[in-house]
Amino acid sequence: MARIQTILIADPDTDFLAWTSTQLSSATTKVITSSDSEEAYRIFLREKPDILMAETHLSPFGGMELLGRIRQRAPNAIVVLTSAFGTTQAVIESMRLGAFDFVRKETLPFTLKAVIDAALKAQAEMRAATSAKPQLTVEEHQDSLVGKSEAMAQVFKVVGRVAMSDAPVMITGETGSGKELVARAVHTYSQRNGKSFVAINCAAIPEQLLESELFGHEKGAFTGAVGQRAGRFEQCNGGTLFLDEIGDMPLALQSKILRVLQDGEFSRVGGSATLKGDVRIIAATNKNLEQEVAEKKFREDLFYRLNVVRIQLPPLRQRAEDIRLLAEYFLQKVAARQRLPRLKISEDAIKVLESHNWPGNVRELENTIQRACVFATSDVLLPKDIPIGMSGALSDEVSANPSLANVVTKEMAIEALLKAAETDPNLQLLPFLEREFTLHSMRATNGNQVRAAKLLGITRATLRKRMEIFGISKELNITG
Ligand SMILES: Nc1ncnc2c1ncn2[C@@H]1O[C@H](COP(=O)(O)OP(=O)(O)OP(=O)(O)O)[C@@H](O)[C@H]1O
Ligand SMILES: [Mg+2]
Repeated sequence: MARIQTILIADPDTDFLAWTSTQLSSATTKVITSSDSEEAYRIFLREKPDILMAETHLSPFGGMELLGRIRQRAPNAIVVLTSAFGTTQAVIESMRLGAFDFVRKETLPFTLKAVIDAALKAQAEMRAATSAKPQLTVEEHQDSLVGKSEAMAQVFKVVGRVAMSDAPVMITGETGSGKELVARAVHTYSQRNGKSFVAINCAAIPEQLLESELFGHEKGAFTGAVGQRAGRFEQCNGGTLFLDEIGDMPLALQSKILRVLQDGEFSRVGGSATLKGDVRIIAATNKNLEQEVAEKKFREDLFYRLNVVRIQLPPLRQRAEDIRLLAEYFLQKVAARQRLPRLKISEDAIKVLESHNWPGNVRELENTIQRACVFATSDVLLPKDIPIGMSGALSDEVSANPSLANVVTKEMAIEALLKAAETDPNLQLLPFLEREFTLHSMRATNGNQVRAAKLLGITRATLRKRMEIFGISKELNITG
């Protein structure tokens, strides 16, 4: 006869408990339910169920804490957390605490059986295995990696899983998709968090300097090497080294990186001594490395060595459900940075954002929101404020150089004018244009009248007169 499997389900919602119970109970499967975490904990210890599925918002303590307590007593327990919310932090943290899976509740009507089957299968495999993971403490982390799409949840899960190991991680994805942010998250959630995270852009440093930058040099190793110098590997001992744009690393250096990965060994330029270091390597590229390998531009052995864990970031256009959340997040970020009240965003404006295809990914969205805040004439962003579909050249220029995002160009003001004229047929074009230019240049220069006047090509006296006519100093709340 088949073994009877036991599933414990803890959830504050008794209707949900009744539903899962009918869905899952069978001749070979026993379902126990509880709406109380204290009770669920006791049941777990007594009944030793094969799997536990727990809600994050249980009381008296939440599912995350239940998970922590249970895994302290039973490090191999298979626990699936469920939640109506799937914040980045919750997903990463629960994976880090050793949850088997994190499932958003709204998906359960479709996925319950599959989720439970996968957990039971893992339990069966687990029963054979023995290795216990070290106990971890929960830490507070900033929720700066935003996303609630399924694709990003997968990314968070991998981040949570790999964080505690020292395995190299390879992050790939289009420009602006968040590779560096994910690399930092892997570091932050790892035991190396107290140590340094050192990023080095392999494409930005001339080939001759890159080796000494990475490994350091001895005195006199090359012209200009006046003293001995430690490289990034030494500097970040115990920490994480982020090799950005690894696809651009020269072949000769690739073999030296391979040596570090294999034996943890390297030498300074011009030095014969073998040094050892404890560095976790995370690499990123927006090149297609498989193709680079095929074309012999990238070492195959290094590729496999780095590709132990691969995080492929989905382009923003494939996760439109993240756009609203990201937009809100960036609005908050702009407000915090400029110490201004946070602007709201209209549903129609969100739709405009969601229908764009974002070749510059999250970075482009961030820039768009920043610029929209400059355009905004009320405390709600409307479609007219969203500078999408502006002259391509300008958009590209701004995506390539984020600091330009705060500079208001005449093209942008004209664009704002055209959009305003579209929605208000009685708009007085000339005064509007003059007012926009004045207002925007004052905002762009943080209220510096000399620079604003220069931007507009008028004298400071004229600027002051216009500000007075248009009541701009009050609106900007800038004195002087
Ligand atoms: N999921 C996210 N949540 C919040 N901010 C994000 C997210 N993804 C990216 N960003 C922001 O978008 C910008 C670009 O991200 P990042 O620098 O990590 O991209 P990248 O993939 O390294 O780009 P590139 O290939 O051009 O170097 C950053 O300002 C980053 O903070
Ligand atoms: Mg980057």
